[in-house]
Amino acid sequence: MRDYQMEISLTAARKQKPAFDQLQFGRHFTDHMFVMDYSTEKGWYDPRIIPYQPVTLEPSAMIFHYGQTVFEGLKAYLSKEGQVLLFRPEKNMERMNRSNARLCMPPIDEEFALYALKQLLSIEKDWIPSYEGTSLYIRPFIISTEPFLGVAPSNSYRFMIILSPVGAYYKEGINPVKISVEQEFVRAVQGGTGNAKTAGNYAGSLKAQEMAGNSGYSQVLWLDGKEKKYIEEVGSMNVFFKINGEVITPVLNGSILDGVTRDSIIQLIEHWNIPFSERKISMEEIYQAHKEGTLEEAFGTGTAAVISPIGEFFWQNEQLEINNGETGELAKKLYDTLTGIQYGTHEDPFGWRV
Ligand code: COI
Repeated sequence: MRDYQMEISLTAARKQKPAFDQLQFGRHFTDHMFVMDYSTEKGWYDPRIIPYQPVTLEPSAMIFHYGQTVFEGLKAYLSKEGQVLLFRPEKNMERMNRSNARLCMPPIDEEFALYALKQLLSIEKDWIPSYEGTSLYIRPFIISTEPFLGVAPSNSYRFMIILSPVGAYYKEGINPVKISVEQEFVRAVQGGTGNAKTAGNYAGSLKAQEMAGNSGYSQVLWLDGKEKKYIEEVGSMNVFFKINGEVITPVLNGSILDGVTRDSIIQLIEHWNIPFSERKISMEEIYQAHKEGTLEEAFGTGTAAVISPIGEFFWQNEQLEINNGETGELAKKLYDTLTGIQYGTHEDPFGWRV
């Protein structure tokens, strides 16, 4: 880790905290944030913790035009004993650097970023809610800041970490959501940026989500960008199926995001000796399994929602109900185990807690 000097300036005016038992996702922000700048001459410099405040940029800053930016999402949890816990945070820092590489952005010092995050959390500890299902969502992100309209990598960047006390991501919580299988739009293609955590992937997903929402569906199931045949993700999450006792998730193919929750679930499933495969899986296969009565469960996984069971797919004018529209046993067990590890109430056989 590089030996940076971190400046800390605390706010004189602490905000009124929201009601922690009524939190939505991502609506409130804490008193402080972490900031660090980059220039091609200096590298990363000036790490600082400062009061949460607006960012001033020139209108010509490259982020506004070509979207050269990456972000991450992880959470801090408060244990019953009052300890602040993180879940595999090094995986997020590693992935941020993979996203940086894809977007022609400079790598961060992963160890220092984690150190900076811990410093910020120690200042903002009072903002970690403790009601069931609540946590402090952590959003590290980097934006390109050079005032320039040429299409090229920026010569300057800003790395920030902001914090938001959150409740459930979906209003349904751990209750099943209805999903429309997207036939027109695609989220990503191989060779594109689907496996990087970058804003454009999310901006490009809004239209399909809006249309699905207008038809009463919570999210869409994304199919591959080439044949619109194979399943990739659901909403902004990875997706798992249980068919005839076997758990299946689409194999990482370059257009699917390598989720930390996805990876943790795979490890848990293998630890429990449940038959598992990571492979291509088509919507036709899901349809057939549903018809034959072997489609036992389907669920999305991500940091924000943890596990989001799927109660129904809408595909080619047919409604395919899964597990009578109820939360499956495996989804529930995974949710309980994973959140137990995260909040410190379950043993941590993999050493994931920090
Ligand atoms: C997650 O599932 O954690 C996500 O990446 C969603 C996020 C964009 C809010």
